[in-house]
Amino acid sequence: MIPKETVEKIISSARVEEVIIDFVNLKKRGVNMIGLCPFHDEKTPSFVVSPTKELYKCFGCGKAGNSVRFLMEHEKYNYPEALKYLAKKYNITIKEEEESDEQKQERDEISSLYIVLVFAQEFYHSYLMESEDGKAVGLAYLKERQIKPDAIRHFQLGFSPSAKDAFSKAALNKGYKEEFLIGAGLSIKTNEGSLIDRFRKRIMFPIHSASGRILGFGGRTLSSATKEAKYINSPETKVYNKSQVLYGLYQAKHSVQKEGKVFLVEGYTDVIALQQAGIENVVASLGTSLTPEHTRLVKRYSNNLNFIFDGDEAGIKASLRGIDIALKAELNVRIIALPEGEDPDSYSHKNDRNELVHFLKKNAIDFILFKSRFLFGDVSTDPIQKAEAVRNIIKSIIQIPNHIHRSSYLKELSSELDIEEEILYRELNNQLRARRTQLSAKKVRKEEEKPAVSGLEDKLLRSTASEQERIIINLLILAGNEEFNEESKCADIILENIMEYDWENPLLQKVFNHYVDFKQQNKIYPGIKHFVQHADQLFQDIASEAAFMDSNISENWSKKTGRIVSSEIDYSKDISSSIKHLEIRKLQSLMKENQKKMKQKDLSQEEAIEYLKIHKKLNERIKELSLRLGIVIY
Ligand code: CTP
Ligand code: MN
Repeated sequence: MIPKETVEKIISSARVEEVIIDFVNLKKRGVNMIGLCPFHDEKTPSFVVSPTKELYKCFGCGKAGNSVRFLMEHEKYNYPEALKYLAKKYNITIKEEEESDEQKQERDEISSLYIVLVFAQEFYHSYLMESEDGKAVGLAYLKERQIKPDAIRHFQLGFSPSAKDAFSKAALNKGYKEEFLIGAGLSIKTNEGSLIDRFRKRIMFPIHSASGRILGFGGRTLSSATKEAKYINSPETKVYNKSQVLYGLYQAKHSVQKEGKVFLVEGYTDVIALQQAGIENVVASLGTSLTPEHTRLVKRYSNNLNFIFDGDEAGIKASLRGIDIALKAELNVRIIALPEGEDPDSYSHKNDRNELVHFLKKNAIDFILFKSRFLFGDVSTDPIQKAEAVRNIIKSIIQIPNHIHRSSYLKELSSELDIEEEILYRELNNQLRARRTQLSAKKVRKEEEKPAVSGLEDKLLRSTASEQERIIINLLILAGNEEFNEESKCADIILENIMEYDWENPLLQKVFNHYVDFKQQNKIYPGIKHFVQHADQLFQDIASEAAFMDSNISENWSKKTGRIVSSEIDYSKDISSSIKHLEIRKLQSLMKENQKKMKQKDLSQEEAIEYLKIHKKLNERIKELSLRLGIVIY
């Protein structure tokens, strides 16, 4: 348990933008910061961080919260882990009692896996550095591969013993549970029921998340005997998915941001060798071709991706698909082919840093040049093969979402291959058309239905009951204590006017009732801070939304008036119209009920007249309200 005062200290020291910038590339935008959302795939940034509100929110996927919440969502930390992370970041010491066995058991599975993985990394590392076997065999191998002590530490390399269960035994002895050793992919249960190690007598490469958590391992055999797999990797586990991890990103990310680009290579040793040579912005996709998740990771740090290919043809062919994936993600793609027979590992040992930097710069070509050279290399002048190659290159070009970028590549292709641009355009359009018909009609329809957003009024008009309820609650939280007029606060007006309202969304009603309680007790209405810090997750979520509705309003405002609007927004108009919309909704439902009654059989004449009167009255009131709102109600 972390003492309460420490928790408070941690939370008050944490600055949301400082926490998030370690994971997301944020740019300043007015008072806020903006970047690509780490929680969903997107090409234009809709992830907003507000330092003043101490919150983040993604307008694309809706994820929102404070810095602790971010760490819990993004790093899959539980609450105490998120606090510990922050404590470390802000140099706050936590005096905590030793973990009891019970507490150990209580941790959820994911955290247990992480803990076991850290233990494994330390185990393998110290086995490499300290045991006789490790030094004589493991270190000797690394030395032969020219991997230096600095790099061994930097990448936390290790060595696994050759006994079949040395690691499993050590871990069980330390009290780590069998299920987590298996769950982390480190141990395997035999048919006889005993535990054996997955990795034996292998150089161990820990695989880190971007924030430095250990997710799994790659283990390289020392023997060059072909019968054995050169690498054994962790299997897919609850924390490791190779299509979502880039090896070396944790070590590379600062350099990537500094250099403004990332080099993508194939293997563990390529990353390490280049890093040793002073090229630090290197990552590897581990034995898979690049995935959309990989590109999303890259885009958090840079838009410029340079593929480094070995100088052999087989490797290149296998990696071509990755280029298309990267183009689709709107990454600026360049390709560097190493001289025949070289891989980044071998090549970096033959050249010093300056030579490497020079080589990488000089040989980085865009994918058009690369593909046309590569594909035309063995095409010669056969017109049929030439046409096939052009089609192949255009297949890549249509991946690029931006059509201006597409045309400039066509131009380049035209001059590179000496083919008229018009012919290329025809092929491009053919391919685009073919692809479009492939898209399901449903998806197209969905796009068209999406209305343009502008201003709160429009929003209210289009909203469902529940959305309107949300808006009024947001306003309540944002502006509750502000003056509506001389006598009343905004919250007074809202409470008075919609006291009778039948809520559709019970959660929002809960917040409303919270305000009613405050009013009855004559207390000052709670503000946004109250909800942000509230233990109830529901309240936190609603507060984040309200906080950003504020910035939405100000953005619309500044768009309309052409000037930046500070926090001094006049909410009274928004409140009045929100109330009116809710009232209209209520009147409409009364009207429906009344209409049902009018349709009853055997009504007396008086009754019929009475219902008709009610109908007219309701109708008039709705008309009046809509007139004042300047809208038409159907
Ligand atoms: N790989 C793998 N399993 C294999 C072979 C390769 O998972 N049996 C993955 C590893 O991530 C490896 C990458 O593919 O790093 C590239 O393979 P390769 O070029 O053969 O290995 P290197 O990393 O170059 O290793 P080394 O230099 O030690 O041969
Ligand atoms: Mn290699």
